[in-house]
Order: sequence, then C-alpha cells, then structure tokens
Amino acid sequence: GGCHRDGFRAVSSMPEPCQSSPLSDDESCDFDWDSLGFGLMPTDYMYIMKCSKDGKFERGQMSRYGNIELSPSAGVLNYGQGLFEGLKAYRKRDGGFRLFRPDQNALRMMTGAERMCMPSPSIEQFVDAVKQITIANRRWVPPLGKGSLYIRPLLIGTGPVLGLAPAPEYTFLIYASPVRNYFKEGSAPLNLYVENEFVRASRGGTGGVKTISNYAPVLKAITRAKSRGFSDVLYLDSVNKRDLEEVSSCNIFLVKGNVISTPATNGTILPGVTRKSIIEIARDRGYEVEERAINMEELFDAHEVFCTGTAVGVAPVGSITCMDRRIEYQTGADTTCQELYSTLVGIQTGTIEDKMGWTVEI
Ligand code: COI
Repeated sequence: GGCHRDGFRAVSSMPEPCQSSPLSDDESCDFDWDSLGFGLMPTDYMYIMKCSKDGKFERGQMSRYGNIELSPSAGVLNYGQGLFEGLKAYRKRDGGFRLFRPDQNALRMMTGAERMCMPSPSIEQFVDAVKQITIANRRWVPPLGKGSLYIRPLLIGTGPVLGLAPAPEYTFLIYASPVRNYFKEGSAPLNLYVENEFVRASRGGTGGVKTISNYAPVLKAITRAKSRGFSDVLYLDSVNKRDLEEVSSCNIFLVKGNVISTPATNGTILPGVTRKSIIEIARDRGYEVEERAINMEELFDAHEVFCTGTAVGVAPVGSITCMDRRIEYQTGADTTCQELYSTLVGIQTGTIEDKMGWTVEI
C-alpha cells in the first residue's frame, strides 16, 4: 500500500527554555551537566519525514519538539509496527560535532524495515537528518567529557489499520536528548542475573532487528532483577536455555586471556554498532575475537565480562549470578575492558586518531 500524508502532525510545545543567553554556536547551554544521567531531557527540535504514496520518503522538516498526533488505529499503536535507532553526537574540541558511524544505524534501519514490512529512508536521508537534528539542538550537546547528545530515530507505521496488515502510511522521526551514564551504577561494575524464565528473542523472530516490539517484553525481567538488587539480566537462547544471548539493552563479551568471545549474530542477537566496533578495535590491538555460540558454563571460567551498546557504552561486569552461584570478574584499571573502552571513547571524542574512518564531522 501507499502512504498518505495526513493523519499525523506535530503539536507544537516548547521545552523549558535554556537559561543562558546570548549563546554562541559553540556553547552548551547553562545546565548542571554533572547531574546528567540517561533520562529524557526534551530539546528544541525534532525532525519529521513522511512517506509518500509510492513508498518514498519525501523532504523532511524540522519542527519544535513536542507531542505528536496519531490515529488511534495507527499500525504502531495497535500492532507494534515500528523500529528505533540510537546514536550519539559529541562536541569537538575545536568547535563543531562528531557522529559515530551513523551509516551503520541507517543500514540497520533498512534491514529492520524490510523485516517489519515498512519502507525505509535511504542512508543519505538518514545521515542527513541526523546531522540536521544535531545542529538544530546544538546547545544541548554536553561539553566535552560531560556526556553526549543521544539521537533517537524512529520509523513507525502511522497510517490506520484494523485488520492485521502493514500500515498504509509511515513516518520517520528523530528527537534527541543529552545523556551520560545509562546505568545508575554510573561507571561502576554491573551485577547481572542470568534469566532462566523469560527469553528476549526466539529463532525466526525479530531479535536481530531493532524493532520496538523487542523491548517492552523484557521490562518484567529487568524489574524483577532490579528488585533483587541486580543491575540487569543476561538472557539465554530460547531453544535450549543454554547459550548466552545478550543483556536487555546491550551485547555481552567474555574475556579469557588474549581471547575475547561474544555470541554470534544468528538472528536472535541485536547486531550492535558498538559490538561491531569493539570487535574491530580488539582485533586491531592483537586480541583474538570469536563470534560463536557461548555456553553459559563458560561464564565460570571467564576472567572478565563486559557489555557494549550505544547507550551503555562499554560497561564492566563485576559479577554474574548464574544458577544461584555468584561469579566474580576482574574490573578496573589494567583490564581488557578498560583498554577497549578508552580506545573507543578516544575515537569517539577525537583524542585518538580515527584510522578506521568511523566518525563523521559536522
Ligand atoms: C542503545 O544503546 O542506543 C539502545 O538503543 C538501547 C536502548 C534500550 C537504550
């Protein structure tokens, strides 16, 4: 089906005004940046691009950040036809901003759109919109070393449906929020719990794409684990409840000497951009990296464990509770996790030369 242009519009509503003025292009607004966590802080603008009848996305528009109006029968509300992405913009030392591998998010959205029967913006449209949203919200990009601007693209079925079918209209929307640490632990090691009841994804399902419908089902497991004092849960494969999959919002890596292993992306694992980048950095630094099935028994003889994700960054894991046994891991200075983390952050923030050509300057 084609896409209609009506049925969705932005309702203007202003975020809290930024206190400092006048503000030069290169300044972050006057805000207590040290208090930043991973909560939503509304920024000035959002970007909206609708799909035309022939399934092509047309010129997008920037509008004030605010509520949107949706048909109660929108495909995304009724049947979860939607995808999201997440990427970060950092302030450059000499003015301007730096994005990390935005083309990878664009590609993943295209793959996900195919799986979810949606049209998708081209890589150029996606990356151009991400640049525009960064510039439009530039005063909300935290000062260097105080965090980043988290950019959240959405692709959603906004047209009305009643019977189960692809929506007749789609919208690509991007908003942004300044963020720092994802977990309340800050940069302290995480304590994970191996989830033995709930699963995140099943074979033939959508675990390998970033559909919104992969995320609400894990809330129950996260809530239960948090109430028991854990940071998050580590999921097992749905068939044998034996192999490691990932954590609710990030991928997982095990380190044993010079060998680093992570579950292979076989359709149930989210192919993280940070995951992929850490694999490349580790190989470049002489580690042997294996992408394969990892039996949970291997948790018992790993030296280090860490998580990777755009929101999470590279987070050390201090302990994992598996089958009622608590396993502890090395953390802190002189760990592989720390080495890979500093290299990645160095590239992202410009203190280490980007010889891979990953960053995009704006
Ligand atoms: C990200 O890391 O950017 C994600 O999309 C995970 C999300 C649950 C915060």
